[in-house]
Amino acid sequence: MVGRVEQLANPGDFLTGSVLRTSYVVVRGSDGSLRAFHNVCRHHASPVACGAGRAESFVCPYHGWTYSLEGKLTKATRLKDIEDFKAKDHGLVPIRTQTCVVSRRREGIVAEPDRGRSP
Ligand code: FES
Repeated sequence: MVGRVEQLANPGDFLTGSVLRTSYVVVRGSDGSLRAFHNVCRHHASPVACGAGRAESFVCPYHGWTYSLEGKLTKATRLKDIEDFKAKDHGLVPIRTQTCVVSRRREGIVAEPDRGRSP
C-alpha cells in the first residue's frame, strides 16, 4: 500500500514514494481519478515530483518539461536535435493502481509497478 485514498481527496493532490526500487507519484486527476506514474521525467530521467502536496501539473526542475495530472506531456523544451518528436509518445509512464479496504472508513491505494515496463 502506498497511501490512503483520503490523502488524495482533491484534484491535484499527490504523494510520492518508492516501491521495489521504483519511484512513483500518485495523483488525483482533474477528472477525479487516481493514477500512478513512474516519477521519472521522459527527457533525462529527473524526478518530476517530490514529497506530497497539491499541484496543477508536474514540472521537471531541469528543463521544464511539463506533465498534466493525467500524465500527458504538455510542454517540452530542448527539442532541436530530436526528429519526429511526438509529445503524445512521451507522457509519464503509468503504474497500475487499485484501491483496497483498510478499515470501515479507510481505503488504501495499491501501486503495482510492472517490472517489464519502465521509463
Ligand atoms: S530532465 Fe526533465 S526536462 Fe530535462
